[in-house]
Order: sequence, then structure tokens, then C-alpha cells
Amino acid sequence: MSARSLPPRPIHILLVDDSDADARFIDMMVRRARGDQDRLTSASNAAETARAFARHDDIDLVLLDLTLPDAHGTDTVRRVLEAGRDVPIVVLTATDDEEVGRACVAAGAQDFLPKSELRAILLGRVIDYAVTRSRDSAARRHLEQEVLESSEQERQRIARDLHDDLGQQLTGIAIMARSLAAKLAARGLPEATDARELGELVSGAIAQSVALARGLDPLTEFDALPMALEALASDGERRFRIRCPFRTAGEIPAVDGAVAGHLFRIAQEAITNAVKHGGASQVEIELRGSGGALEIAVADDGKRSLEPARFEPGQGLRIMAYRARSIGASLAIERNPHGHGIRVRCTLPAS
Ligand SMILES: Nc1ncnc2c1ncn2[C@@H]1O[C@H](COP(=O)(O)OP(=O)(O)OP(=O)(O)O)[C@@H](O)[C@H]1O
Ligand SMILES: [Mg+2]
Repeated sequence: MSARSLPPRPIHILLVDDSDADARFIDMMVRRARGDQDRLTSASNAAETARAFARHDDIDLVLLDLTLPDAHGTDTVRRVLEAGRDVPIVVLTATDDEEVGRACVAAGAQDFLPKSELRAILLGRVIDYAVTRSRDSAARRHLEQEVLESSEQERQRIARDLHDDLGQQLTGIAIMARSLAAKLAARGLPEATDARELGELVSGAIAQSVALARGLDPLTEFDALPMALEALASDGERRFRIRCPFRTAGEIPAVDGAVAGHLFRIAQEAITNAVKHGGASQVEIELRGSGGALEIAVADDGKRSLEPARFEPGQGLRIMAYRARSIGASLAIERNPHGHGIRVRCTLPAS
């Protein structure tokens, strides 16, 4: 039997329509397309829709009438997306206005269908595809998160090993070399110089392993984000030979280690991009707290007249966006309003 001919899995549909007659008609079409297997919950306005999401956490799909007593057009889509997070929405438009339908898809709906064209077979297919696409993308997001988390854990493990094992052993060797140098010097032996040099080499190796550990896991050494960012700024100045001032403003709320780690990596990628692509000679980092919210802004003085909307996202921008999403923050890549170049702004709302 082919996959297409398998019977559809039962789902929970939230049907949002303020017209009883339309709702009954759509209900009938759904049953005609998919049989009686699905669970249907109804809502007649945006407020009821939000309450339905609060009551049921197993809604698989929303069939949404665009014109409700308390919401209109793409605003309806946005409000339902806010209330239902990742639940796919199929918009049922009153007319066959393609433009309205496309605007809804741009606002985050999966698909649209004019009510006037509501045939069971088409509705069944649209529902099926919307649910399948949404499950696939949820599975992909989950996988991305796991990959990112496990690579983060791996970095932290290597950083700990570098610091605790290699670091301690090298420190022991440096102390021994110093004491050997002192003993040889006390006997007036010329090998004392070699022993001293050996000690210096080992000290250099210690400094290098500390720097490596810091790069792998910046927040173990600096347990607060502002300190880690300050170190990132001075590291940027040294490595890229740019000016990289760092400042804080307002009251900086404490954030947990994982959140701080994501914000740090966003700033790090923004600095690298500023130098690599913008040719910036100055990159300003600002961490600003306000009423429990936290914003990090990285502004460069790179190339003029770049249009961030035209950037072709590589791994860097994609991972940045992913990191912001995974901590519930918003991310803006925009023209620097205070000069040339680009500003990356990540805002974490108050928890
Ligand atoms: N600060 C910036 N100034 C100028 N262009 C930028 C800036 N940030 C991003 N871009 C543009 O956006 C594109 C995508 O950036 P992104 O970080 O995603 O990829 P990348 O830096 O090319 O590669 P990587 O995946 O290694 O980060 C860049 O190729 C560049 O054209
Ligand atoms: Mg990059």
C-alpha cells in the first residue's frame, strides 16, 4: 500500500469562525474529507481561541476565519500564532482574494483556501499537508536544538578537561622546572638557564590552554555575562586590531548559564561578521538592562549602504537566529542607526 493511500491519523482541529452556519458547513466538509475520526473544538473569536489553547495542549491544526469580532485580516493570524505557538493554521478566506491569502502565509499561516472553493477533497489535502509539514519542521527544530546542545556540552567538557586536567599537570611541571632551575643555579651549573627556559615554555603552554578553554566555554571562567563580554571585546581588539568598546547600561538582570552562553555566541558571531564582511575598524558592544529585559547590541562602522534584508544567510546568521529563538529572544539585523555598518540586536524579554 502506498503512503498516500494510508488513512489519515486522527487529529484535534480548532475551528475558529464567528458564523454558526459557516462553522457547521466547515465541520461537515472536514467529516466528509476525513471521516469522523478527528476531534473538533470551536471558537468564535480571538479571545476564545486563546482560551481554547490554554485548555487544550494537543491541538494539531487551526482552521481560521479571518474576520472575527475582535480581530481582522493578518492580525487574526498573528494573534492565533501567539496563542498557539507552533500550531499550523489554514486560513479560510471569505473571498478568493489571493493577495489576502498570501499575506496570511507571509504572516505565518501554512496555507489558505477561499470558503467559496471549499470542496472536501481539497480541504482534506490541505489539512493533511499542513499537519505533515508542521510535524516535519517541529522534528527538524528539535533535532537542531539537540545538535546545538550536544556540541555546546562537548565544548564545555573539553574546556573542563583542559582546565582541570591538562592545566593542573602543566602547573605541576612549571613548579618542578622552577625548583630544578633554582637547585641547578645554587650549584652554579649552567644548565640552570635551560631549566628556567623550560619553565617559561610550560608557562606559555598554560596560558595557551587557558585561552583555549575560554574560547570553548567562555562562561565557566567568567561566571557573569558582562565579564565574559568584556573579555570578548578585549580579545576582539587584540585579534582583529580594531577598537571594540564594551559598555553596560541600566540594571543588568541575572540570566542562567545556558541563556548567557547563547547571547555570548550571538555577540561573538556579530563581531566576526563585522570584521570579515563589513571591514569594520570599530565594533561597539552594549549590554542594556531595563525592567528585567536584557538587550545586547553589537554595532559596527563597516561598509556603508548595506541592506541587511538582502544578506544571504550562512551558518552564522542562521545559528544566531536559532539561538535567539531557542531562548525566547528576538533578533534584529539592521543598519546601524548611529553611523555606517550593521547593528545586531538581540532582546530577551523580562521573564
Ligand atoms: N556586519 C556585517 N557587515 C556586512 N555584511 C554582513 C554582516 N553580517 C552579515 N553580513 C552578510 O551576511 C552574510 C551571511 O552572514 P553569515 O554569518 O550567516 O555567514 P558567513 O559569515 O558568510 O559564514 P559563516 O557561516 O561562517 O558565519 C555574509 O556573507 C555577509 O554578506
Ligand atoms: Mg558569519
